Amino acid sequence: MTITCIEDLRRQARRNVPRAFFDYVEAGSYAAETLRANRTDLENIKLRQRVMMDVSSRDTSSTMLGQKVSFPLGLGPVGMTGMQCGNGEILAARAAHAAGIPYTLSTLSICSIEDVADATGAPFWFQLYVMKDRGFVRSLIERATATACSALMLTVDLPLLGQRHCDLKNGLAIPPSLKFRNLLSMACHPRWCARLLAGRRWSFGNLEGYVSGRSGAQSLAQWVGGQFDATLNWSDVEWVKSLWRGPLIIKGILDPDDAKLAVQSGADAVVVSNHGGRQLDGAPSSISMLPKIRDAVSGDAELYFDGGIRSGQDILRALALGAKACLVGRAYAYGLGAAGQDGVAKAIDVLHRELDVSMALTGCRTIGDIGPQTLAN
Ligand SMILES: Cc1cc2nc3c(=O)[nH]c(=O)nc-3n(C[C@H](O)[C@H](O)[C@H](O)COP(=O)(O)O)c2cc1C
Repeated sequence: MTITCIEDLRRQARRNVPRAFFDYVEAGSYAAETLRANRTDLENIKLRQRVMMDVSSRDTSSTMLGQKVSFPLGLGPVGMTGMQCGNGEILAARAAHAAGIPYTLSTLSICSIEDVADATGAPFWFQLYVMKDRGFVRSLIERATATACSALMLTVDLPLLGQRHCDLKNGLAIPPSLKFRNLLSMACHPRWCARLLAGRRWSFGNLEGYVSGRSGAQSLAQWVGGQFDATLNWSDVEWVKSLWRGPLIIKGILDPDDAKLAVQSGADAVVVSNHGGRQLDGAPSSISMLPKIRDAVSGDAELYFDGGIRSGQDILRALALGAKACLVGRAYAYGLGAAGQDGVAKAIDVLHRELDVSMALTGCRTIGDIGPQTLAN
C-alpha cells in the first residue's frame, strides 16, 4: 500500500496492532466530544490562498527552546508507546532525531529513560507526572538530569484519570492480560507479538526497580493507577523547579488564567492542550483556546500547541493563530503501529511536506511569514 497521509498510517496500524492497544491510542474520554471538537474546529479554519508571490525558495526551519528544528514540530509524550510496536519509544526517538525534531518520552513509557538514552545517544525531552510518591518523582528528575534530557515537560492536566470506556471494556492491561479474548487478538497479530517479544520490554520501564516489594508488571500497573495526585497545585511546580535546572515546559493548559500562572511559575514554554481529548470531556477544542492563551502569554514563554493535528495544514493553522510550534501524539503513534521506525519517519515526513507545500500556496517562504494574514477567516 502506498502511504500518502496520516490516515493511511492509521488504517495500517489498525490492522497491525491488537485491538486493545489500537483503541487505547484512538480513544477520547467519556463521550469523546472534546476529541471530535479538536478535529472539527481545526478543519473549520480556512487557509488564505495567495498567488504570484515567487515561493520558489522556502525554509521551514525554526527553533524550539533555542534549538534549531527542521520544522516546528515535536513528538509529544505518549504513554505505553512501546505497546504499539516493540521498543516503540526507542524507534520513535530515533526517527525524531533523524528528522531534526524533538522527541518527548512519557513517564509511563515501556522503554526507560536510560534505555532511550543508551539506544539513541541523542538528547530528548522527558515528560513528568507529579505522582503521590514524591521520592519517585525526585528520582525521575535525577535520572532525566543524569541522562542529559534537554527539557522537562511537566504535565498538569492529569490530577486523576479521565475514563476511556474502551480501555475498561477491552480489559487494557500492562503487560497484556492473558484472558482468552486478548490471547486470540494477539495470536491474530503475529508480527506485533514477535516485535514485542524481541524488544524484551513490556512493562513500565521507568518504574522497574523503583517500586520496592512489588514484583511483576501487573502490580506496577496497580501502583501507577493509585499514584495520580489530586492535590497537585502550583507550589508543586516550585518544587520541581528546585530540582530541575534545565528548560521547563508546562503541558496541559487550556485556560488563559492558567497560562498566566504557568508563566509566573517560571515555565519556559507552555503547551496549549486538552490531552488529545482524553481528560475533561466537554472542554473546548485546544485550537479554539489558542488565540486567548496567546494573548495571555504575550510572548513571555514559548507557546506550543497540540490536539487534533493530522496534517501539515493543521500545523500551519496553529502557527497562524500564534503557536511557535506543535506537538503530535496519535499521528506518530499510528506511524509506529503501521511500520515501526519507518512509520514514524513517514508520519513526520508527511507532516513536513504538507506544511511546506501549504506554506508555498499561502505565500509564506519562512515560518516567520506565517501569521493571522495566512488565514481566510
Ligand atoms: C495513547 C496516548 C497516550 C498519551 N500519554 C500521555 C502521557 O503519558 N503524558 C502526557 O503528557 N500526554 C499524553 N498524551 C497526550 C499527548 O501528549 C498529546 O497531548 C495528545 O496526543 C495530542 O493530541 P493528538 O493525539 O490529537 O495529536 C497521550 C496521548 C495519547 C493519544
